[in-house]
Amino acid sequence: MTTNRSANPPVNTPAIPGNADAPASVSPQTEAALASTAHAPNSPGATHIRSFVHRRGHITQGQQAALEQLLGKWSIPYAARRLDPAAAFGRAAPTVLEIGFGMGETTEKIALARPGDNFLGVEVFNAGVGSLLRRIEDSSIPNLRIIQHDAVEVVRDMIAPDSLAGVHIYFPDPWPKKRHHKRRLVQPPFIALLASRIAPGGYIHCATDWEDYAVQMLDVLGNEPQLKNTVDGYAPRPDYRPLTKFETRGLRLGHGVWDLIFKRVA
Ligand SMILES: C[S@@+](CC[C@H](N)C(=O)[O-])C[C@H]1O[C@@H](n2cnc3c(N)ncnc32)[C@H](O)[C@@H]1O
Repeated sequence: MTTNRSANPPVNTPAIPGNADAPASVSPQTEAALASTAHAPNSPGATHIRSFVHRRGHITQGQQAALEQLLGKWSIPYAARRLDPAAAFGRAAPTVLEIGFGMGETTEKIALARPGDNFLGVEVFNAGVGSLLRRIEDSSIPNLRIIQHDAVEVVRDMIAPDSLAGVHIYFPDPWPKKRHHKRRLVQPPFIALLASRIAPGGYIHCATDWEDYAVQMLDVLGNEPQLKNTVDGYAPRPDYRPLTKFETRGLRLGHGVWDLIFKRVA
């Protein structure tokens, strides 16, 4: 295995103080919901460390327009109650949850390639949500919905136990500095919660290009009693996960990518 690069900063950078005119990275509704759930309601007094920070990032006019016009059509608002996927998608089908879809290129391709499955994409940042809303509309993707909210709360509050056919976590923010590792999404408590939401026989598929995060993922997933590795160690990239542009470039430069596919045990 090669030592992975450091030219891959976390996508999330803190909001720039004093840059109040810049567009907020999340909608006012999401902002309010996040603020109101700063203390996790089902664990009195407890908070969880967010795996993202609010950004005031660039958003294109197209993404902004998509947010304004299409959020109501293709997204499901966060609510602290269980989601009925059959009602949300208008049909009963296996549901796959994707956490942190970024700009949604991969999400779109997978949803189009697997029309028999329902895909629920969770992302917090506005430009990404706007981008995927535009893709859903333009490609008429009936089996894809978005929730713009912290995935930890979505999983905890909206996803019923033993209900998901699969979970995708692709290239989660690596938080490379040691003092930020606590922000990494793949940690024992969240993976235990997430595993409890997967139906027996369902899968969780993670991918990262950050070697020490890959090692952490293997350790965390490997030590979760509800999960079992489908292979010995890292898995080959399955055909359904397309190579991203970024990944293609990285592989050409000799950087590694690690896929992990575990199944929920009965
Ligand atoms: C490094 S990007 C990867 C995006 C995409 N999966 C890809 O492969 O290009 C990680 C994404 O996860 C999102 N994210 C991080 N923590 C999240 C959370 N708790 N809930 C929802 N989205 C989250 C970030 O906003 C960011 O867009």
